[in-house]
Amino acid sequence: MFDEFVQVFNGYSNTVLNDVVESNVKDAMRYALEAGGKRLRPFLVFAMSNQWVHEETMLKLAYALEMVHTYSLVHDDLPAMDNDDYRRGQLTTHKRFDEATAILAGDALLTQAFQVISLLDLNSDIVVSAIRILSEASGANGMILGQVLDIQNDTDHANQISDLYSLYAYKTGCLFSAALRLGNLLNKNQENEEHLDRIGKKLGIVFQIQDDYLERTSTFDVIGKSNQSDLDNHKKTVIEFLGIEGTKMKINELYAELNRDIMLLNETYPKLLDIVNWMKDRIK
Ligand code: IPE
Ligand code: IPE
Ligand code: MG
Ligand code: MG
Repeated sequence: MFDEFVQVFNGYSNTVLNDVVESNVKDAMRYALEAGGKRLRPFLVFAMSNQWVHEETMLKLAYALEMVHTYSLVHDDLPAMDNDDYRRGQLTTHKRFDEATAILAGDALLTQAFQVISLLDLNSDIVVSAIRILSEASGANGMILGQVLDIQNDTDHANQISDLYSLYAYKTGCLFSAALRLGNLLNKNQENEEHLDRIGKKLGIVFQIQDDYLERTSTFDVIGKSNQSDLDNHKKTVIEFLGIEGTKMKINELYAELNRDIMLLNETYPKLLDIVNWMKDRIK
């Protein structure tokens, strides 16, 4: 199901950039969007929405979220931030193009996301809710706040492990939360948003812990990006607090909690459970 969705979803990138005038910025937008991302956040929109895989409105909504995620990575890799040269096994956008083009492509992806949502064939109150959810999750009280806290997080600061969980909830959890809540907007029986927000944040925390774990224990060939980025940038991760084995135990504990949380939702979401278990299996 995941592979089928990713195939259908990937067929959509032309549609969402259709009205963008040809330029090097458009090329960079497409480069970043089509560089081989796993499409986890779009799949979560789909899984939560309980819609048919070809449902156009769901795909566009999922694409809008992926554009915001993609912009966040293009900017995250810039020299002023993590200064990374590779992502998904390819040159980062500023390395493939140049810094100015990457900055503008990120800006344009973020803006285009909201244009795509504004044009959805949905009731205007649902469109406004989608804009609210995505702007709150990605803005200065959401993902951006996480990036701000991340910049302040280094080995010289006396952070607690709880500070790291909080920073992960913002930096990564907010967009996972947005994925579930956006999918939920298309559902007939809508779930409680607060409940989904908690599940999304927890999923983001555990995903980020896994990402840091993989960065520390894996190779460039496997993760397609530097396995030194956190060390080069003197970032503290959960591994500094819990060690490798303790981190693995924490990951398993959080996934067990997530399985229970999802089972307690009012409806059953088998695709959601499948993708969460697929995410868990990234680390054995
Ligand atoms: C990378 O996210 C950034 C983090 C939050 C760790 P993904 O691992 O989902 O990125 P892609 O889109 O699949 O490359
Ligand atoms: C990226 O976090 C999160 C956002 C862009 C919001 P990281 O910097 O830890 O992720 P990678 O390792 O570059 O993918
Ligand atoms: Mg970063
Ligand atoms: Mg980074």
